[in-house]
Amino acid sequence: MTSLLEKITSLRSQFICELREAVSSKDLEALKVKYLGKKGPIQALMLELKHASPEERPQAGKLINDLKEEFLSHCDHSLHRVKQREMAAAFQQEWLDATLPGRKQFLGRAHPISQMLQRILDILIGMGFSVQLGPDVDTDYYNFEGLNFAADHPARDMQDTFYLGKNRLLRTHTSNVQVHAMEKFKPPIRIAAPGRAFRNEDISARSHVFFHQIEGFYIDKHVTFADLLSTMEEFLHKLLGAEVKTRFRPSYFPFVEPGMEVDVHCTACKGSGCRLCKHTGWLEILGAGMIHPNVLMKGRIDPEEYSGYAWGMGLERLAILQYDIPDIRLFTENDMRFLSQFP
Ligand code: DAH
Repeated sequence: MTSLLEKITSLRSQFICELREAVSSKDLEALKVKYLGKKGPIQALMLELKHASPEERPQAGKLINDLKEEFLSHCDHSLHRVKQREMAAAFQQEWLDATLPGRKQFLGRAHPISQMLQRILDILIGMGFSVQLGPDVDTDYYNFEGLNFAADHPARDMQDTFYLGKNRLLRTHTSNVQVHAMEKFKPPIRIAAPGRAFRNEDISARSHVFFHQIEGFYIDKHVTFADLLSTMEEFLHKLLGAEVKTRFRPSYFPFVEPGMEVDVHCTACKGSGCRLCKHTGWLEILGAGMIHPNVLMKGRIDPEEYSGYAWGMGLERLAILQYDIPDIRLFTENDMRFLSQFP
């Protein structure tokens, strides 16, 4: 009995010592397991009870049980206290100010050129055109020869065209899609072909080495110049408003005959003359014409039976005119101050 009492006393002082050193809930949980677990000293004492005499056993058992209860209550008491302290510290750290205004989320939006293109495609699809894409990298034939460019036409000159190899080039206009389409489809053909075009020019406020165009063309029996005029009128009215005034001027492109350029009343000054329209009141907006018989023939379409019209326009130019943008380079600089102005 005395030996048990001694053991209890020493175990208690050892426990108290360790309890003082336990600072975190983790330490305390470990302490609890160490002393009260199956392999702990209390359990060992319980096993020793077997050797005690029957008269001593109840008293000894009670002493050990009391010690167990004492340790347990110490542990639980400290755990409760430490856990509260830990929680308070965590709350301090994760402190949240519910009155702070939220962070502004910026929604992505389409680039002004994409917006312009979408509007144009919506209109043209509504007028019966279907969308076809052509290659950015093409051959001399599709970009020039198939479009009736004479062998010595200046547009083939190295200063305008990016050549990628002997017979590879970056298309200088989306008109190449006309030649591809005539090879692929039989009339009636009614196509809108948007895409990039490339020209070897100095980059400035007005011109860039790459830009976007959209080409439209219609080939069928009995397509006339009057059809072209009315289609252009309708298209431009839908794009720029019913009140917009149009002007058709004769012009030359190798792949159309007759060819013309179309002007609209200046979108900024409505025709009275300003910086944007260089005080003419008019803005040139697209090139158009009746598809040249040579072009139809190269596309294996009989010009005696079929005729067609075509037009092409630059999307950057349209966007510049519509929004009065001072510099074409803004479209490719990814400056949020510019881009966020097009909701
Ligand atoms: N391809 C011409 C250019 O890039 C634009 C053009 C003019 C297209 C007249 C046409 C057209 O289809 O008929 O300058």
